[in-house]
Amino acid sequence: MHLVAIRGPVLGLEASCDETAAALLAPDGTILAEAVRSQLAEHTPFGGVVPEIAARAHLAHLPALAAQVMREAGVSPADLGGVAATAGPGLIGGLIVGASFGKGMAIAHNLPFLAVNHLEGHALTARLPGLVEDGVAFPYLLLLLSGGHCQCVAVEGLGQYRRLGSTLDDAVGEAFDKSAKLMGLPWPGGPALEKLAASGDPKRFPLPRPMLGRPGCDFSFSGLKTAVAQSIPKLENEQDRADLAAAFQRVVAAVLADRARNALAMLPGATAMVVAGGVAANQGVRAALRAEAEAAGLPLIAPPIRLCTDNAVMIAWAGIERLRAGWTDPLDHAPRPRWPLAELAEPAGPGVAA
Ligand code: KG4
Ligand code: ZN
Repeated sequence: MHLVAIRGPVLGLEASCDETAAALLAPDGTILAEAVRSQLAEHTPFGGVVPEIAARAHLAHLPALAAQVMREAGVSPADLGGVAATAGPGLIGGLIVGASFGKGMAIAHNLPFLAVNHLEGHALTARLPGLVEDGVAFPYLLLLLSGGHCQCVAVEGLGQYRRLGSTLDDAVGEAFDKSAKLMGLPWPGGPALEKLAASGDPKRFPLPRPMLGRPGCDFSFSGLKTAVAQSIPKLENEQDRADLAAAFQRVVAAVLADRARNALAMLPGATAMVVAGGVAANQGVRAALRAEAEAAGLPLIAPPIRLCTDNAVMIAWAGIERLRAGWTDPLDHAPRPRWPLAELAEPAGPGVAA
């Protein structure tokens, strides 16, 4: 592919869910500055993300975060090579805030604008130079394991994504959060459940292993959550809770590994197994997936946790990959709350690059 030169650092903006983030990357992908502001404090009293509160918090904090990364890197807007903002999928209020702010900067400073798909950001993170020498080559298997998404994706090229399987009900992060809530843990439940599981015996509570051994690589977690709910009355002390948490985590890790094995078989020629999303922070899940990748003779690429969860580095990087291909997006691009990766197959196309 003929690569287009980028004339300066690219600003990435992320405001699709409950993290407000900005990052500045050099055209070669070097991270010059990054900042994330979590909205955990705003949403915790409600036990989940409240879209209207999220949108207002993005509006209140995104401009300052963007200014902060520019200041830290000593870069002025006129020196930028482009602005990349998450334009979907996600909560529409936040998407409008992020994309509009990005478009405003692009108009004011005559910069190329990129409307980045959040999932593409997660998908391409593994290609950041510095993470793996020279970045991971296409094609590779992506396991996207977050609170909102649970998919096996064949990443076959820039803009070329094929969904191999996805969840039939809850996303895996959602399963962690709901089970943790049943166990009386604070939201978001994933990290708290992992901590509790560390002192538990995973063999005490027999739990179902949904989808294990079935063909394909779809997921299902609602039955597991129901089984956790049915075990709650049996819990008498802290050790019992730890044992249930450990059992839950072990089942999830085993199911994910089983699904990943089938997904790898569906993508012959894969160069790596890549994990992304908040659940990729879980050490039990990582270990199970690493064993599966290694059994297939492939590396498991797990970006550092701050790049697995929502961030703006991945948005800037996806923007850089697109800019290098000569693709930009028009300023009337409308944010899309639903925007499956498969619909990126035909990118916005060349022609409007500055
Ligand atoms: O990718 P992410 O930060 O946000 C989106 O959902 O887009 O993922 C958040 C999810 C939550 O469900 C959270 O409970 C889960 O990731 N999570 C974990 C861990 N850390 C975060 N799940 C299991 N173990 C963890 N250590
Ligand atoms: Zn995400």
